[in-house]
Amino acid sequence: MIISASTDYRAAAKRRLPPFLFHYIDGGAYAEYTLKRNVDDLAAIALRQRVLNNMSELSLETQLFGETLAMPVALAPVGLTGMYARRGEVQAARAAEAKGIPFTLSTVSVCPIEEVAPAIQRPMWFQLYVLKDRGFMKNALERAKAAGVTTLVFTVDMPVPGARYRDAHSGMSGPNAALRRMLQACTHPRWALDVGLLGKPHDLGNISAYRGNPTGLADYIGWLGANFDPSICWKDLEWIREYWDGPMVIKGILDADDARDAVSFGADGIVVSNHGGRQLDGVLSTARALPAIADAVKGQIKIFADSGVRTGLDVVRMLALGADCAMLGRAFIYALAADGEAGVANLLDLIDKEMRVAMVLTGAKTIADINTDMLVRAL
Ligand code: GLV
Repeated sequence: MIISASTDYRAAAKRRLPPFLFHYIDGGAYAEYTLKRNVDDLAAIALRQRVLNNMSELSLETQLFGETLAMPVALAPVGLTGMYARRGEVQAARAAEAKGIPFTLSTVSVCPIEEVAPAIQRPMWFQLYVLKDRGFMKNALERAKAAGVTTLVFTVDMPVPGARYRDAHSGMSGPNAALRRMLQACTHPRWALDVGLLGKPHDLGNISAYRGNPTGLADYIGWLGANFDPSICWKDLEWIREYWDGPMVIKGILDADDARDAVSFGADGIVVSNHGGRQLDGVLSTARALPAIADAVKGQIKIFADSGVRTGLDVVRMLALGADCAMLGRAFIYALAADGEAGVANLLDLIDKEMRVAMVLTGAKTIADINTDMLVRAL
């Protein structure tokens, strides 16, 4: 039975998944200090308890880029989501749509744009990396437009992939990786049936569609490493700004100066993110980076925050620190791995309930009422 969104789905995912997949999602870069700080620093944020404010009517709705969100939460782009449950991107997108929030498809998803977008009525969001192959980027943007994608989330904190040492231990990469993955699949029969057998094809759907031949999981790490572009600078993003007429959100901002540059560049939003602690270990947690960024750009650009958000209370904390909307990555993947679409739907309901309790007990009747006044400043 699931009783706590943050811990129970993670434990259920750990039981269900072959270790190479569990550790790929659960792990972070190097010694995983930032990964841990993301969670711990957010948990340490104390909110002022307020009482006797007649909190019988609450609204969690928020407006973003002309869309109504039932709560200020979006599903973040996560690579290989379709390896965590059968055609996982479609299942997660359906759960997000049922709840009334956006789903963001990763560039390196298993299901391609053309499989996920038609499975839902709500317009999908799409995430793109800066890749050496600009032909692929143009192709992906065209396909996203054709599929009715509204918002482009452009990830800029991966000019090189961070070293994830867990992956070499778990069989995601390293010696005999393919054999080890096969053996792990054999000892996790529910996953092997649901995803291993019935969830095919297991390729990077968007990349295969461009290259015209399947780009499989075995190529994943190699493809990422070979294609990320360390020469990238703001100027390289200009053609995308011209090419993409919808809202554009820059993901991977952790510094107020970069946030100001994103405003000057003309972005519509930023995601304050350290990529879930998967890139440079030792950088600030988002909970600690966010206040300075909000001071610099709040109101000029929409501020999203991810990395460490596991519960509805965490969403309220991120908003109190200055975000307009939180993004969930690992949290929804754990739920998806444990129980597919139903798991993600249940997680989103739990988050909704947790947000309501936090709002009642802090005196916030609407999302706009959640602000820095809510923070306990001195402990
Ligand atoms: C990809 O974005 C990853 O973090 O593995």
